[in-house]
Amino acid sequence: MRILAFSASLRHDSLNGRLIAIAARLAREAGAEVDLADFSELVMPNYNFDVEQQGFPEACVALGRRVESVDGLLISTPEYNHSFPGTLKNTIDWLSRLRPMPLRGRSVQILSAAPSLVGGNRAAEALSTPLEVLGMHVMPDRFSLNTANEAFGADGELLDPQRLERLQGVVDYFLRVTQSLKLMD
Ligand SMILES: Cc1cc2nc3c(=O)[nH]c(=O)nc-3n(C[C@H](O)[C@H](O)[C@H](O)COP(=O)(O)O)c2cc1C
Repeated sequence: MRILAFSASLRHDSLNGRLIAIAARLAREAGAEVDLADFSELVMPNYNFDVEQQGFPEACVALGRRVESVDGLLISTPEYNHSFPGTLKNTIDWLSRLRPMPLRGRSVQILSAAPSLVGGNRAAEALSTPLEVLGMHVMPDRFSLNTANEAFGADGELLDPQRLERLQGVVDYFLRVTQSLKLMD
């Protein structure tokens, strides 16, 4: 089973970057092959139909191929103004224009991390809408890491074993569903 994982933050010391690194490790330990992408590789020029008509940006074509080569996606999103970042929406909008559309039929687990008490769960909820509309199997159990600025040790691991256990459960469920969908193909 192959998974593409990324945090939708461009920030060097991103909390979502730390969270996705742990989720990717858990997925690898469970036997998945994980392509952990740097979000800077996945951002594209602002969507413009005129540009599309002249040809898709290279980053879009490359990401489309990367998505096609996996069975599911693990995305950790920051929360900006109660939603997910515009950079991620732009990437989704570009991908949605490719034919065949690579997101359709694939599974996705949404994670989020924020220093706030709700941990970016409004961003996670908002992100599920376009992904569902595009035909992805969005896992119903989202993982939102609240007070994320206090959640990691110096080694980048989660300090609280209960949070790690819950994340493990979310990743394991996602992999089981992804495997089942693969068998149905
Ligand atoms: C433009 C902007 C808007 C933000 N809006 C929210 C918000 O609505 N809710 C929230 O919990 N945090 C909000 N934050 C704080 C982010 O959760 C915080 O910067 C977080 O560290 C970003 O994720 P990252 O560390 O992965 O880059 C906002 C930050 C920025 C820059």
